[in-house]
Amino acid sequence: MKRVLSGIQPSGEIHIGNYLGAIKQWVAIGEKLGRDAFFCIVDYHALTNPLAYDPSTLAQRTFEAALVNIAAGLDPEKVTLFVQSHVPEHTELSWVFTTLTPLGDLTRMTQFKDKASKQETVWSGLLMYPVLQAADILIYKADTVPVGEDQVQHIELTREIARRFNHLFGETFPEPQALLNPEAPRVPGIDGKAKMSKSLGNTIGLLEPEESIWQKIQHLPDDPQRIRLSDPGDPERTILFTYLSYFAPKDLVEALKEEYRKAGVGTYVVKRILFDHLMEALRPIRERAEALKKDPDYVMDALLEGAKRARAVAQATMEEVREKVGLLLPR
Ligand code: TYM
Repeated sequence: MKRVLSGIQPSGEIHIGNYLGAIKQWVAIGEKLGRDAFFCIVDYHALTNPLAYDPSTLAQRTFEAALVNIAAGLDPEKVTLFVQSHVPEHTELSWVFTTLTPLGDLTRMTQFKDKASKQETVWSGLLMYPVLQAADILIYKADTVPVGEDQVQHIELTREIARRFNHLFGETFPEPQALLNPEAPRVPGIDGKAKMSKSLGNTIGLLEPEESIWQKIQHLPDDPQRIRLSDPGDPERTILFTYLSYFAPKDLVEALKEEYRKAGVGTYVVKRILFDHLMEALRPIRERAEALKKDPDYVMDALLEGAKRARAVAQATMEEVREKVGLLLPR
């Protein structure tokens, strides 16, 4: 791992799925790689999301997404944290990539099919979404992309785009690999079924009020076959223990599972323990977020500094690309 890029959409409250699947890895990688770890708030991507995009709130959400990432432990003085639209070379490279991407490769993307099926009008931005994502990654020649499982197909497409470009114009881009958090590649939502996702409204937000988190935990589905308190439960049939494994020590989780199997512990107690450990894990993030809200200039300055560093790299790649694809270069 020499250079890393990853991104997050500013399309709503950042949730524990984002944190466990992606941001937690980003923090650890950032500690090792420093400035060669690039993290991007992908505001242009957010324009493709008709449910979440609102021109009157996009800027604020973009700022908040950066703030939450810093609060979650990303140190903008070490890593390169920036806003996608502050580095216009991303969209420039994405145009070149669209000319190298067969339409069929885009229409077969699972996320596209899924989102398009729910929309009356399918805008072409939604189709081109993964091409812009490939540009985000390849403009930094990143070899590693720490993401949740839902992004793996997009990274595969990125590799194909890199391969095609290299084949046509000479070796330029690495073929990047997705890096998943083996402990939480796909965090389930509070409905216990689908992936936790902003668009499904089944999330627990990192900064969500404590009372609202407790309400959600109280309603987490139990093992459906456990009707009475005295019935033995199967910990594999409820997400309670999945969530618990993210936040509580292993031996405690194992001991509770054992009790649950014997009907030795009630669901309420398990939920209470989960809530306490979750809040304990979120506390430092929430405290840092509160402090950062009082110092918005720190966040904004960090983003501008990040964009400056990112742009220097992105401009060098674009110069190489323009020359390789044969454009008339301005003097
Ligand atoms: P986004 O904004 O949906 O999510 C940000 C990151 O969080 C991960 N994630 C999850 N991981 C585990 N379980 C979940 N339930 C869960 N929900 C979300 C996502 O996999 C992602 O890593 N297309 C990207 C943004 C993007 C990007 C990029 C990512 C744009 N350009 C370049 C990597 C590299 C997205 O929509 O992420």
